[in-house]
Amino acid sequence: MSEKNLIRKEMKESLAILTKPYYEHYSYKIADTLYKDEDWLKADVIGITISKEPEVDTYQIIRKAWEAGKEVVVPKCNPKEKTLSFRKITEFSQLESVFYGLLEPIIDQTMEVKPEDIELLFVPGLAYTKEGFRLGFGGGYYDRYLTNYDGKTLSLAFHFQVIQQFPIEKHDIPVSKIITNDEVINIK
Ligand SMILES: Nc1ncnc2c1ncn2[C@@H]1O[C@H](COP(=O)(O)OP(=O)(O)O)[C@@H](O)[C@H]1O
Ligand SMILES: [Mg+2]
Repeated sequence: MSEKNLIRKEMKESLAILTKPYYEHYSYKIADTLYKDEDWLKADVIGITISKEPEVDTYQIIRKAWEAGKEVVVPKCNPKEKTLSFRKITEFSQLESVFYGLLEPIIDQTMEVKPEDIELLFVPGLAYTKEGFRLGFGGGYYDRYLTNYDGKTLSLAFHFQVIQQFPIEKHDIPVSKIITNDEVINIK
C-alpha cells in the first residue's frame, strides 16, 4: 500500500471511533468559529460539500448560510473524468444519492455555477498539514478543480486530522486556511 493510502486508512480508523457526542461537539465548535471568520462573513457565494459522517458536519453550515442570505453551491462528481462541477441548491430536497452514497445536486432542479463565481470554497479531506496540504479521498477531484479556481479556500477538520506530514506530490494544491475544533490555521 502506498504511504498516502496507509495514512488514509489510519485516518478513516481514527474517524470511525469518534463518538456521536464528540462528533457533534467538535462540528458545532468548528461551525461557531467559522461564523466569525472574515472570509465567511464576506462571501456571498460558498462552495461546500454535503458532509457524510464522520466528516465535519456541513448541514448546519449550509442552513446558516441560507439564513444569512448566502448562495450555496455544492459539488457533483463526474467519475469518468474525475472532475467536479458545482450547482446551486436552495433546499436539501434538491439533492439525490448518486455516487458512493454521496448526496449530489439534482441536475434538473439546479443550475451550474462557474468557479469564478464562487467566493469561498470548502475543500474536504481526510488529513492536513499545518502548511495547508491535504490528503483527500484519493480521486484527485479537488486538485483538478483547484487548478481552475482563484477564490478563497478553506478546510474544516477535527484536530486529530492535522498531522505532521505525508507525501506531497506536484499536483497537490494547498488550502489557505484550516479551521479545527481548537484552532484556526492561516496559511497565506
Ligand atoms: N490537476 C491534475 N491533473 C491530472 N491528474 C491529477 C491532477 N491532480 C491530481 N491528479 C491525479 O489524481 C490522482 C489522485 O491524486 P491524490 O492527490 O493522490 O488524491 P487526493 O488529492 O484526492 O488525495 C493522482 O493519480 C493524480 O495524479
Ligand atoms: Mg491530492
